[in-house]
Amino acid sequence: MCGIVGYVGKRNAVSVLLDGLQKLEYRGYDSSGIAVIEQAQIVVEKSEGKLANLRDKIKDMTLESGIGIGHTRWATHGRPSDANAHPHTSQNGKFAVVHNGIVENYLALKEKYLAGDHFTSETDTEVVAHLLEKFYNGNFAETVIKVLDVLEGAYSLVMICADEPDKMIACRKDSPMVLGVGEGESFIASDVSALLAYTRSCMYIEEGELCILTQDGITIKNHALQLVEKEIHTITWDAEAAEKGGFEHFMLKEIFEQPEAFKRTLSGRLHGNQVHFDEFSLTAEEINQWQKIYIVACGTAYHAGLVGKQVIEKLARIPVEVEIASEFRYRDPMMDEHTLVIVISQSGETADTVAALREAKMHHCKVLAITNVVGSAIAREADYVIYIWAGPEISVASTKAYTTMLIAEYLLGVYLAQQKEMANLDERAAILEGLQQLPEVSAKLLTESYLAEVQRAAERYGMAENIFFIGRGMDWAIALEGSLKLKEISYIHAEAYAAGELKHGTLALVTEKTPVIAICVQKSTYDKTASNVKEVKARDAKVLAIINEGDTQTAKFVDQTMEIPKINNFVIPVLAVIPLQLISYYIAKIRGCEIDQPRNLAKSVTVE
Ligand code: AGP
Repeated sequence: MCGIVGYVGKRNAVSVLLDGLQKLEYRGYDSSGIAVIEQAQIVVEKSEGKLANLRDKIKDMTLESGIGIGHTRWATHGRPSDANAHPHTSQNGKFAVVHNGIVENYLALKEKYLAGDHFTSETDTEVVAHLLEKFYNGNFAETVIKVLDVLEGAYSLVMICADEPDKMIACRKDSPMVLGVGEGESFIASDVSALLAYTRSCMYIEEGELCILTQDGITIKNHALQLVEKEIHTITWDAEAAEKGGFEHFMLKEIFEQPEAFKRTLSGRLHGNQVHFDEFSLTAEEINQWQKIYIVACGTAYHAGLVGKQVIEKLARIPVEVEIASEFRYRDPMMDEHTLVIVISQSGETADTVAALREAKMHHCKVLAITNVVGSAIAREADYVIYIWAGPEISVASTKAYTTMLIAEYLLGVYLAQQKEMANLDERAAILEGLQQLPEVSAKLLTESYLAEVQRAAERYGMAENIFFIGRGMDWAIALEGSLKLKEISYIHAEAYAAGELKHGTLALVTEKTPVIAICVQKSTYDKTASNVKEVKARDAKVLAIINEGDTQTAKFVDQTMEIPKINNFVIPVLAVIPLQLISYYIAKIRGCEIDQPRNLAKSVTVE
């Protein structure tokens, strides 16, 4: 999500930090800041907006220091602003902290340890700086351990202390960071792209390890402050490969980031069998006044809405209509104060979706936004917001934003039912259990052998001129997303059909030249979908079927199958779409397409 860099050594830290932040700006770019230790005092400079603003701000200052930390932010808690930009400091100004991730229990920590403190930002991170001051016993490393013991959530943290100005301390949990080893200097960064100009020798940090960086070298300790031996690796990537984490394209990197993104979307929102949103709360009375819900969005976000409809209708029993934003506002939809309008948008800036939101507000509807970008137009103007916390999505083709939108919708569906005190307790508990398994199960799905299977399929179908996707219910919803992904990046004509609709017209187009990708994971519709698959097979189409692990039937009548690991069947769309993302990616690659920036398209569509 955010970019972190830290330096201690003989050079001027300010230029190393700015240089490193420039390389990391693609990770987050709503504000940036640095903190250095000058004459045993911490000096902090930060600025909202692009890194250029920070550079401008400090260009005439004479900041000279051999130690400092820097940060480029992608907002999670608190809108982008100078005050919310990192580094954050303790009240006495002796500690400065940069952070990537989310401290889930920051409100509880404030109440328990820091009542009466004056906070200057809305961030979860500032709590860490205040705790360092509170727990300081004259030993920086011991103090950090004490602070880590009370933190919950995912984080990478780099901290400096004015009383121990020769060192910085770093640690991580569920959030990446890498150490750079130099001659008479040490580096740390959230990814290697920030280090490459200075060193190619790096060490990887394991969870729970404490890294103490000085100009004489890096010491790694465990929780008991005993030394840990580390191997030094040599980085062979060039700068461009490093930015993409070694992946050939941002799209593939973002597909692989999904397990981590799932953790973040769920982070802090599950309490036993209850869903809780820090951002808002709704009473049964408020929910019950809504007689209807509209979900309004564009493209991939619209496809996420199609799953959301099924989730909310099933769990909360409120009728839901899903609309394309560019259609919605021009057709005089029936809505008033008894309608909830849910807008979904990764960027939070899509012009059609913003216009639909404003239309809804004009009709006195409450608006709930599901978005990735804190401080975006949609987040600012909605009454309630659920952030998906997918992290910056750079590839035009959306992947991790789509799957995290689905997770946000499951959480919302369960939440609405829970607040309405509906009787479906067991069903909700099973769904929450499934959601919690998603990070682990999705990570297991993304193996070398699975990728090899997808590549085989891509080679088999990649030269077709038309590809159909079919499925029923939620399988159809993800089929629509699969077909959009394929046409968007491979330029193959692809369409998705409700499997039962084929025989009403489209079946006429099916021949041996039109491969069909059949999504067959919804158990409730399996038998019917299987019959439709046999219909296309009878017309000589080659069929790739996405099936449940343990399904021994489908392989008997299709050409290739790809399995989805066992998980609660209602949340399975989050996993079942992953092979569809991958097959689009590999087909586009075979066809030599410009994957991250497909022709004619833009990441954020700010025109109507
Ligand atoms: C997805 O792969 C597309 N690039 C596109 O459909 C996108 O989802 C759509 O433009 C909506 O964007 P938003 O989520 O930022 O509103």
